Amino acid sequence: MQEKINALRQEILAAMEKTESGRALYELKVKFQQELKTIMAGMKDLPKEEKPVFGKIVNEFKQSMEAAFEARAVVVKEKEMQQKYAAERIDISMPGKKYTAGALHPITLVKNELIDIFAGMGFKMFEGPEIETDYYNFTALNTPKDHPARDMQDTFYLAENLLLRTQTSAGQIRVMEKEAPPIKILSPGRVFRSDDDATHSPMFHQMEGLVVDKGITLCDLQGMLGEFARKMFTSSTKVRLRPSYFPFTEPSVEVDLSCSECGGKGCRLCKGTGWIEVLGAGMVNRHVLENCGVDPDEYTGFAFGMGIERIAMLKYGINNIKTLFENDIRFISQFED
Ligand code: DAH
Repeated sequence: MQEKINALRQEILAAMEKTESGRALYELKVKFQQELKTIMAGMKDLPKEEKPVFGKIVNEFKQSMEAAFEARAVVVKEKEMQQKYAAERIDISMPGKKYTAGALHPITLVKNELIDIFAGMGFKMFEGPEIETDYYNFTALNTPKDHPARDMQDTFYLAENLLLRTQTSAGQIRVMEKEAPPIKILSPGRVFRSDDDATHSPMFHQMEGLVVDKGITLCDLQGMLGEFARKMFTSSTKVRLRPSYFPFTEPSVEVDLSCSECGGKGCRLCKGTGWIEVLGAGMVNRHVLENCGVDPDEYTGFAFGMGIERIAMLKYGINNIKTLFENDIRFISQFED
């Protein structure tokens, strides 16, 4: 019996040395308890006088083994903690993950800035549809089917009377049909023309403005454009109106701003003229007012339309319109207000 106990002690202690986890130690303890049970069961076959001695031996064996299990449990727990720490170790000297903030597209930046400037002058926003009828895009704007001015804009037709709008001017009609003067609206949006080179894209953005009220004159237009130019470019930017032609305005003007690059002295950007053409404008043609049920003898108005890409290209010194639509993130993320 004594030998059996000694052998078991050796075996269990040796196995205990090798345990690395709480689970392995627990399984070993269960095994030990089963073996101990068998030993204790064997006691009943011993002669009566040997029983107390042997009982003492077994007791001592049980207690010493339990102490050994407890001691090992402390060691195993420590080992497990060390393993956990090693697995979860974070190298705080590693460089952090870099999250780059998004940036607004230059067209969005310019559009927002335009809205800001004109909202400050009391303009309200109106957004018309990108698919327009021939009537809103041309006819109501004093450009009937046989009008030569239709050749100024190469149009994508979807059906005989349905097209992708070529100009946000179509919004003028939609607003005047619904609202009575005084009207003061700003209408940004995408427009489409069959046109494609370094400064033209088949899809681009325009910003339209329309003011209709009693006693509106060309001077109001010029004053407002001056305010816009100084806010958008520099405080010394000047405005120049040149006679032009649009079917929906009379008189019509082409609006130039003094070159923000050279201040008007003449440089590459302004091709030596000191002026840069930025938008079309004019007094709303009385036929257009009539088409919308507005009495041209009572009300007058001015309108203007500009290309947002053109403003962005001037403001940020971009020379190819295509770079605005290639969506190279390195390019489009470098502009800020
Ligand atoms: N719609 C014209 C264009 O796309 C621009 C324009 C000119 C708009 C004169 C106007 C305006 O409102 O009065 O070329």
